[in-house]
Amino acid sequence: MLRIEHLDVCHGNLHVVWDLSMDVHKGEIVTLLGPNGAGKTTFVETIMGLNRSARGSIRFLDEEILGQQPYEIVKRGIALVPEKRELFPKMSVSENLDLGGHLNVNGAGDPESILKMFPVLRERQDQLAGTLSGGEQQMLAIGRSLMLNPKLLVLDEPSLGLSPLFVKSVLESVAKLNESGLSILLLEQNIMHALEISHRGYVLENGRITIQGTAQELLDNQEIQACYLGL
Ligand SMILES: Nc1ncnc2c1ncn2[C@@H]1O[C@H](COP(=O)(O)OP(=O)(O)O)[C@@H](O)[C@H]1O
Ligand SMILES: [Mg+2]
Repeated sequence: MLRIEHLDVCHGNLHVVWDLSMDVHKGEIVTLLGPNGAGKTTFVETIMGLNRSARGSIRFLDEEILGQQPYEIVKRGIALVPEKRELFPKMSVSENLDLGGHLNVNGAGDPESILKMFPVLRERQDQLAGTLSGGEQQMLAIGRSLMLNPKLLVLDEPSLGLSPLFVKSVLESVAKLNESGLSILLLEQNIMHALEISHRGYVLENGRITIQGTAQELLDNQEIQACYLGL
């Protein structure tokens, strides 16, 4: 579904992503694991057309998307849940959801199924987004992206800053979305929780992929256990 080959990305003179190749097959959850500063956000911004310096190839459903404008990429069926959630804090939960769907490029999203998946959003439909807890805001950010009816959902560190209970609940929702047929690219530092729900994963260190494999292979990998899981 998504095939990335030999991708290099810079921020000005800073070379951040180096010769990165990876893919996501239809129906998978693939996780790109990496510590702070590894280049995860730079990488997703590049997929979404937000970084214009990239070289290499990003193919989505057999078409090259590198160099296209963000709205064209969204129209092809990729939706991003951004790292900082980027909600409209002074607008209500329902208004944030409505805005997610206003492009209506892949057919209208179904707010009812989103509210079913995140019942707390239904309870708080009229509440201002800025007054929700971190976990609720993350759910709303995911819900808003789902209003685009994406074929591939890209989540940039959805567990960042959440309490352990919410981390579990947000990642469980991601797993449920995948069970309902959505393909997912997940960027995470939270290796254990992310691998529990993933099919495959890649480890990104200093902008380079250093380890890749099935989720189980990564959980069994001694280097990952020593460096990331403290085992
Ligand atoms: N807009 C930017 N301008 C310059 N450097 C940046 C910018 N965004 C990120 N960087 C740098 O790129 C590197 C990777 O950052 P980032 O992609 O945010 O990593 P991650 O999301 O994995 O924490 C870091 O060294 C960071 O300082
Ligand atoms: Mg980041």
